[in-house]
Amino acid sequence: MNTLRTAVIGLGWAGTVHARTLAALPGIELVALADLDPARRASHPDVPTFTDVEAMLRLGLDYCVIATPSTTHEHYALALAAAGVPALIEKPLAPTGAAAWRIHEAFTQAGVFAAVGHTERHQAPITELARLLNIGRFGELWQLTTCRQGPYSGRILDVGVVLDLLVHDVDLVSWLAGEPIESVTASTRVLAGPYEDTATATTMLRGGLLAHHHADWISPFKQRIVQAHTAAGVLIADTVAGTLTHHPNTARPAASGAFPGVAPGDAYAITLAERAAPFTVQHQLMRDVLRGAPVSGLVTLAEGAAAVTATEALLTSAATGLATPVAARQPALT
Ligand SMILES: NC(=O)c1ccc[n+]([C@@H]2O[C@H](COP(=O)([O-])OP(=O)(O)OC[C@H]3O[C@@H](n4cnc5c(N)ncnc54)[C@H](O)[C@@H]3O)[C@@H](O)[C@H]2O)c1
Repeated sequence: MNTLRTAVIGLGWAGTVHARTLAALPGIELVALADLDPARRASHPDVPTFTDVEAMLRLGLDYCVIATPSTTHEHYALALAAAGVPALIEKPLAPTGAAAWRIHEAFTQAGVFAAVGHTERHQAPITELARLLNIGRFGELWQLTTCRQGPYSGRILDVGVVLDLLVHDVDLVSWLAGEPIESVTASTRVLAGPYEDTATATTMLRGGLLAHHHADWISPFKQRIVQAHTAAGVLIADTVAGTLTHHPNTARPAASGAFPGVAPGDAYAITLAERAAPFTVQHQLMRDVLRGAPVSGLVTLAEGAAAVTATEALLTSAATGLATPVAARQPALT
């Protein structure tokens, strides 16, 4: 099979992980890297580097990663679509819903494949949680709760914690539930600034499922939790610890009209299959799709744009104090 010629634009934290991952994967050759910062380019002496992405595209690429700050994604995405080069674009796809849908439109019109780097779907506890919910192992899904806390990385300078971190969670809950987000209510605060650095939100999904979210950059520890309340108890995916735990419900029968509630059973850890690191899984999927495999497991541009649209509605809700619909902000896809 053909070896795919790949490149990465943006050589910060995410771009460096992409470059390392691509360089190590069978069936892929890392042929070029681009960044505006000479020091970043110099830190990759083994691969040709560029400042001018148009010049880099003339090398002929089978796909390219965009790992620059979110506010620059659209510029490079439109250039790749126009050049007919497939792309893996980091999350958030863009800083606004309008920009995200323009990217979607450009690749669709060009007939070029692209996906969004929502790597959290490829964390082993989350992937297994999705599989178990999908096969209905724990019965009806009642509610989702997400918590994503930590210290500010110092890297993200163009958007706040909602677009940087909470966008993972709006993507995850919609994917786990298999339903789009219809409306949001949210509160945010700017503590260290210049953008919001703490946010709390409730998203309502089609069918009425509620998902509760907290994300912040003001905690001196790292926490990444997704809880799924089901009819058979609560599943807790902890991607820092790398665990998935089931806290079973002991069914409490409704007696004489009393509220049945739930009673706790004994918690146990669910065994997780060995999986490659999330960035590796993502590039294995890209490689396989571009070699003709069915598109599966990657986050589509429409899903990435839907996540941005939901976070944008969430910021509107925080600014206005009003519950804000999401669906009306999205184009009807044909
Ligand atoms: N999927 C994930 O888990 C994950 C994790 C971290 C970051 N990200 C995303 O990756 C992107 C980059 O984040 P980061 O943490 O690596 O940031 P970073 O600041 O570490 O790196 C950004 C890099 O882009 C370069 N750059 C800036 N503007 C440029 C331009 N116009 N053209 C070319 N290069 C430019 C900078 O010199 C820097 O090297 C963001 O969209 C972020 O949300 C995703």
